[in-house]
Amino acid sequence: MEKTFAIIKPNAVKKNCIGKIIAMAEDNGLKVVSARMQNLSSKEAEGFYAEHSQRPFFQSLVKFMTSGPVLLLAFEGENAVEKWRKLMGATDPAKAAPGTIRKLFGDSIEANGTHGSESLTAAQREVAFFFDK
Ligand code: CMP
Repeated sequence: MEKTFAIIKPNAVKKNCIGKIIAMAEDNGLKVVSARMQNLSSKEAEGFYAEHSQRPFFQSLVKFMTSGPVLLLAFEGENAVEKWRKLMGATDPAKAAPGTIRKLFGDSIEANGTHGSESLTAAQREVAFFFDK
């Protein structure tokens, strides 16, 4: 059993799609083991996305991620990291495969609906960043 970390981003929360996204995860064998809805502070968004701090889109990403409530999630399941990434599809919704979460609920490469950890190491860091043991 593996854990992964996910965020339902402000654009998907605004569109009232939390239930549909979680249902897709649950229907594919992922179980919600932690969840919290909150408004991220700039400090939290900057810390969470620190690896992207030198990228040109960083400030805009922080502004977007703090623009409204997000749902922070930890999912558990077999191959949870890869499973959630496959369900989300490509980072850019325009390039995501039909039926994927980002294709269905993403609005742009920035407002792409959901985040998911890219590796098991990242998942452990990200779960710990937002959830107590
Ligand atoms: P996420 O999976 O949360 O990881 C980093 C985020 O940065 C990504 O989703 C997008 O929201 C954003 N992002 C990645 N690449 C770009 C880009 N080229 N332009 C704008 N935002 C981006």
